[in-house]
Amino acid sequence: MTLLPTLPFRVHLNAAKGRAGAPVLDEAGFRAARGAITCWPGYAATPLVDLPGLARTLGIGALRWKDEGGRFGLGSFKALGGAYAVARHLIRTLAARGITATDADLAAGRHAALTGDITVTCATDGNHGRSVAWGAQRFHCRAVIYIHETVSDGRAAAIARFGAEVRRVPGTYDDAVRRAAEDAAANGWTVVSDTSYPGYTDIPRDVMQGYRVMADEAFAQWTGPAPTHLFVQGGVGGVAAAVAAQAALHFGADGPRLVVVEPDRFDCLYRSAVAGTPTPSPPGPDTLMAGLACGEVSILAFDELLYRADAFMAVPDEAVAPAMRALARGQDGDPGVVAGESAVAGLIGLALALGDPTAAPLALDASSRVLLFGTEGATDPELYARLVGAPA
Ligand SMILES: Cc1ncc(COP(=O)(O)O)c(C=O)c1O
Repeated sequence: MTLLPTLPFRVHLNAAKGRAGAPVLDEAGFRAARGAITCWPGYAATPLVDLPGLARTLGIGALRWKDEGGRFGLGSFKALGGAYAVARHLIRTLAARGITATDADLAAGRHAALTGDITVTCATDGNHGRSVAWGAQRFHCRAVIYIHETVSDGRAAAIARFGAEVRRVPGTYDDAVRRAAEDAAANGWTVVSDTSYPGYTDIPRDVMQGYRVMADEAFAQWTGPAPTHLFVQGGVGGVAAAVAAQAALHFGADGPRLVVVEPDRFDCLYRSAVAGTPTPSPPGPDTLMAGLACGEVSILAFDELLYRADAFMAVPDEAVAPAMRALARGQDGDPGVVAGESAVAGLIGLALALGDPTAAPLALDASSRVLLFGTEGATDPELYARLVGAPA
């Protein structure tokens, strides 16, 4: 039985691995992030779900799904990044005024008189903005969050629920990124972005260090022989870079192969890997995978990925709903898994690569043990129900 219909995809094998790019996420930064985040109230590791039925369907040895749907009640792994970077920014700002504060001090509102005058801002397709808004509320500062024209009302409302001001602007995600930067410069706000660009790298590095907690948990939860392959979806590349850095720390140089999977309509990481330098994806139709609808790479993340990733894939939107339904149903005795549109790209990449000669160098076979990152649950419940045919 096959999981998905035969669909066109592209795969680029990264000959630059270990030779170009550079590691950009240090171990000390990760340890600081893990130390802080695991002490936040409500912290719990998300589950690593074994899916032996899906592994049988695909003809591989093992498949496990790191299910981020329950992360801090926000629905995605993004809760780890933006909120952590907000806390770091407030702590640094207070330190510059001679005040030493911890995450717990901020959460308790001990410095609210000062932090209440600080505004953080970002552009988002939904999940990152939710994290920044939640972090601003939790650590007592203001947030203004920019969304582009196709972000659903449901996602906008989920951000506003955390007390942020939500501003909708014309154009794409990348237009919203530019608008947030302009308004921040004009108003003295701080951009807490999940993407880095020349001259702006410290905060996105904090964001990625926060994401590493997800990978750290998954590797600690993995039992038995180590995974042979990691498939991670890519937007600007932040989460894939975080997984790559954590895999290198945990498994060393001979760790699992890492494959980055993007929508074929927003394949900036793929194009950049082919060119060996940051290269945008051309304007075109939108993708269902809203969290991956990024036309420009994060320069830090790309550097890490060019150095560490084994391959980049670009996969079609037509596979999204079938993959979500297959997970929701549960294959061959598996539990059902709630996976949002952006969470399934890795599974799509795996399913399309298996048995396709162009992906043969990935060495996927009946003995492969694959870890997938279910980076979101039903973060847009209406869209989820429409695509899957049943509510989450
Ligand atoms: C659910 C989900 N998965 C994956 C990603 C991709 O993350 P990155 O942009 O860091 O590559 C996003 C980004 O918003 C997301 O929301």
